[in-house]
Amino acid sequence: MLIRHRETWSIAERDATPEHVFLNRRSFVAGAALAGAALGTGIIGLPRGAMAAGEVDPSASLYPAKANPAYTISQAVTPEAVNTNYNNFYEYGETKHIADAAQALKIRPWMVSIDGMVDKPKEIAIDDLLKAMPLEERLYRHRCVEAWSMAVPWTGFPVKALVDFAKPLGSAKYMQVQTFLDPKMAPGQRGFVYTWPYVEGLTMAEATNDLAFMVTGAYGKPLPKAMGAPLRLALPWKYGFKSAKSIVKITFTDKRPTTFWQGLASNEYGFWANVNPGVPHPRWSQATEEVLGTSERRPTMIYNGYAEKVAALYTDIKGENIFM
Ligand code: MTE
Repeated sequence: MLIRHRETWSIAERDATPEHVFLNRRSFVAGAALAGAALGTGIIGLPRGAMAAGEVDPSASLYPAKANPAYTISQAVTPEAVNTNYNNFYEYGETKHIADAAQALKIRPWMVSIDGMVDKPKEIAIDDLLKAMPLEERLYRHRCVEAWSMAVPWTGFPVKALVDFAKPLGSAKYMQVQTFLDPKMAPGQRGFVYTWPYVEGLTMAEATNDLAFMVTGAYGKPLPKAMGAPLRLALPWKYGFKSAKSIVKITFTDKRPTTFWQGLASNEYGFWANVNPGVPHPRWSQATEEVLGTSERRPTMIYNGYAEKVAALYTDIKGENIFM
């Protein structure tokens, strides 16, 4: 169950769990699907910002945005330095420690195109989009299918606001999002194992659900590159792989997109990917999760604790596994 306690919202980043004991044991190799998981060791580093030293993010003055108290959870914020040093971003490598490599991501100029079944296709610069959207901060659970979790203070705007801006036709059934494709800027895109670019998708009902969030910042600042600057999704009731990073294109369509991981291993990853502790992934039990930045392992909740907001989206879906 989603537990909303106003007082926990007020846990500021500086008051969150101290940055101690973070010695991770795992490193998910993507080809995971193909090659299986590998073990690696990493230790916590410094928080990573949105820009490299000397670069200035033109959106910096928009942060911190006002916190929306309707979206909170009763757990401490994952320390920023833990989060920004433990990421999945295969464009920059197959380990969790891609923060340095991700500095090669050039986030200005950054254009976002909106096309497909829309009133009128558009292309908009990220800074114009930021000005047009209502920015707010939300504290969300973030649960990876690898059975780790975090609590992240994201800044952004409801996906619904973007849908209203895009004006899709009534016949559109899905919103597909696509990450940049630039092997010169992303060494991970130079190999042959993966089908780039990273693509994800939502039904229109999911995209316009209150929880679906377009992220532009975290920890009261513009989004760090390692976390998918300058625009990513946060879909807290789904496994983290649905939350595509560094989005450049949003397409409204009546065809269900084949998503990045699904295309790679459809026996392991599906379109829906809703969190369910009772439905194991072929390689990871989903019953419990390691809360990164703490020594806690706790039971996972159905829909990652957001059932009351999203369970109704799936009552009419029959004959499909909505938990993979
Ligand atoms: N988006 C892109 N473009 N590339 C990726 O490799 N990894 C996904 C998702 N979005 C990924 C991506 C996975 S597997 C997870 S768990 C989350 O991003 C991780 O987000 P985080 O690094 O902010 O924790």
